[in-house]
Amino acid sequence: MIVRLCQALSQTVREADLTELAVTFIPQALSIRFASLWLADDTDATQLRLAGSSAPLSLPAHLALETVPSSTAEVDVLTLPFNWPEGVAWRAVVRLRNGSQLIGVCLLGDKIREGVFSDKDVRVLRTLAGGLATRAANLNHLDRERRLLLALADKEDNVRRLIAAELHDEGITQLSVVRRMVESRRKPEIIMAGLERVIQNIRVLSRKHLEPVGLEQGFLAALEAFIEQTGALNSQIQLCVNVPETLPHLSATADRELFFITQEAVTNAVKYSNASLIQINIRLHSASLELTISDNGQGFDPAPLLTGRETRGLGIMQARASRLQASLAVTSIVSQGTTVVVDLPEA
Ligand SMILES: Nc1ncnc2c1ncn2[C@@H]1O[C@H](COP(=O)(O)OP(=O)(O)OP(=O)(O)O)[C@@H](O)[C@H]1O
Ligand SMILES: [Mg+2]
Repeated sequence: MIVRLCQALSQTVREADLTELAVTFIPQALSIRFASLWLADDTDATQLRLAGSSAPLSLPAHLALETVPSSTAEVDVLTLPFNWPEGVAWRAVVRLRNGSQLIGVCLLGDKIREGVFSDKDVRVLRTLAGGLATRAANLNHLDRERRLLLALADKEDNVRRLIAAELHDEGITQLSVVRRMVESRRKPEIIMAGLERVIQNIRVLSRKHLEPVGLEQGFLAALEAFIEQTGALNSQIQLCVNVPETLPHLSATADRELFFITQEAVTNAVKYSNASLIQINIRLHSASLELTISDNGQGFDPAPLLTGRETRGLGIMQARASRLQASLAVTSIVSQGTTVVVDLPEA
């Protein structure tokens, strides 16, 4: 029976599968009346929510975490069941831990026949607890990846909408004005001036939103243009760039994503770090390219932003890296500065 449950466990890839296993298969296999699975909310690890439900129903923290105060056991059979919500009596708690962090609990009702949990039941549950915890942690990870990719798509969608709006206002509307000038036979100089204005508008639009300058020639060219621009805007910060003269051939996607990661990291350093120096380094290894953006500023704690629900710059930077199957690490030391390292394999 334990083998079958472990097999089923190894096949769970969605929260719904894990929930079915916990609330249907495990109770069936162990003759338990009912069960429920609660998983940590990945925005707030102290909150547990009912798995398989989108309702924001949270298990009161004192029930999940302190039902059996000071217990560090994976499985606790309670001598006194706790009742929550009214009318439901929970008889055992299976804690799911990822390292020292509690990432979920499976609550079990009474046994159907014997009335008490046997030592064997507890052993089986203890074995399953590890597997359930690993699967639940993976779900969290997958969920976060999915969310970040959605945020990235969202950001790109917003840019598309912005471009559509600006094309309408700065392009089409202005062109209609020029058409009216032609229809009313205005002087050629006036019509030419109107056309020039439209061309200029569209040029700005294309630079601003569509392609960073130089990107059509690759990451290094775009980087050079960006550094020039950023350097000119911030005379107090020294920008130091140490990159090879040429890079191995990169796909257009890699050129783009590396550029936008660098742009975000440098922009963050300029905006928040109070640094006097920002360094951008690229090192080529035998099977990878390592891009580092570091500053010597005040530093910050990136952990909550990289592991929480955050879908701002840092999270999106990470989604861009995963799109390239690259790894991205942000380390920061207070008063010493921040370093972002991207490791792109097989570049
Ligand atoms: N190099 C840095 N030095 C100091 N603090 C930083 C640095 N990079 C990021 N931060 C801190 O981390 C926070 C989150 O950065 P992140 O890029 O995710 O979002 P944001 O820059 O605030 O918004 P967005 O990128 O969406 O415009 C920043 O608000 C800032 O407090
Ligand atoms: Mg940012």
